[in-house]
Amino acid sequence: MSVLVPPAHLLGSEVEVPCADGHLRRHVNLDYAASTPVMSAVWDVVEAFVPWYSSVHRGTGAKSQVSTAAYERSREVVAHFVGAAEESSVVFVRNTTEAINLLSTALPLGTRVLSTPVEHHANMLPWRRHDLRTLPFTTSADELLEVTERALKASRIDLLAVTGASNVTGEVWPLEQLGRLAHAHGAQLFVDAAQLAPHRAIDMQASHIDHLALSGHKLYAPFGSGALVSRAPLTGEPLLHGGGAIKLVTLDDVVWAEAPDRFEAGSPNVIGAVAFAAACEALEEIGMDAIADRERALSARLHAGLDGIDGLTRLALWPVHDERVGVASFTLKGHKAEALAARLSDEYAIAVRHGCFCAHPLITRLLQVPDAESKRLQMALRRGKEPELPGAVRASIGLGTTTQDIDALTGALAEIAGA
Ligand SMILES: Cc1ncc(COP(=O)(O)O)c(C=O)c1O
Repeated sequence: MSVLVPPAHLLGSEVEVPCADGHLRRHVNLDYAASTPVMSAVWDVVEAFVPWYSSVHRGTGAKSQVSTAAYERSREVVAHFVGAAEESSVVFVRNTTEAINLLSTALPLGTRVLSTPVEHHANMLPWRRHDLRTLPFTTSADELLEVTERALKASRIDLLAVTGASNVTGEVWPLEQLGRLAHAHGAQLFVDAAQLAPHRAIDMQASHIDHLALSGHKLYAPFGSGALVSRAPLTGEPLLHGGGAIKLVTLDDVVWAEAPDRFEAGSPNVIGAVAFAAACEALEEIGMDAIADRERALSARLHAGLDGIDGLTRLALWPVHDERVGVASFTLKGHKAEALAARLSDEYAIAVRHGCFCAHPLITRLLQVPDAESKRLQMALRRGKEPELPGAVRASIGLGTTTQDIDALTGALAEIAGA
């Protein structure tokens, strides 16, 4: 069997969509980094579970007991998937954004956080309520390690908060070295694994990761569940206040429950958690190393194809870096990102993403937007105007991607560039 045959069936992979010329074409999904389709194996688990669905934790009915067991088991499956230690806690949330906000709220105000300017906004804005120090842009993993070590030596840091893989340019970060550095200087390591988890095996223990966030909708289980996994149960202020998160409430006091309940106020998304765990199990069954190998081959084809197109510039945070997940952002001379993405969809049925990918500081840097222009855009937006923001196009691959999909994109771009 060729390594490039999809290792799992994804729902909707045969769907055809109408194009501008009136013809139906197979929908080519190259937007996995935004959200993935549902894996058939996940759907099967959801279908089998739905008749058993009931409220969890407080019900005594048989279905409630089955649902509670399935929900609690899902924590163990997710913990295993990311190589978390036995005493870890898994808090189910909606997505990575909520997981990071939850962690940020639980930490004492004034926590000294060290992070980078290339993060997704989800791993940037929640830290601004603390004492956030931002590292400079770097051009290699070695340089990142150097500036991180310097900053950790220069002043006391409580938490190093970094991405596991860039959602714009795909570089996989040197987590193990960052974890060692953080711990050597008394800091904890938080990893935003939204983009890493679908593509690479994660071992929280081996990589010295204290907290990790991930999203089910990027992991072939788009049923509204994500998780914050912490090496030790979190304490601190819960993001959401309400039922299920408490031991006792009086008219003037509240005794909070321990984690994970403390951070899961309200009725949880049981089906989402079960689906999320089913995805983790299905991915483990295929093997994350096999998935990574297959995606490396597809990425190499994508990068080579893109690099051969006249006028196309592929964006890179660290230009010389071997380990990248299958994400490629690019610009094409003479074509605005939005119009180019629309043409790929309208004429070729190819779905990509365009814009700033929720990483404005990074895109501004990669596209070399002059300071004066950045300022002009900022002022115009503040005045309620809607100026066109700079942007790029992003293609991203996943379990269902084939060599034909990659060739369809590079062929379409070559045609557009040559027209
Ligand atoms: C690196 C990274 N972090 C965080 C997020 C936010 O994830 P979610 O939308 O699931 O909260 C994304 C989403 O694209 C991402 O790519």
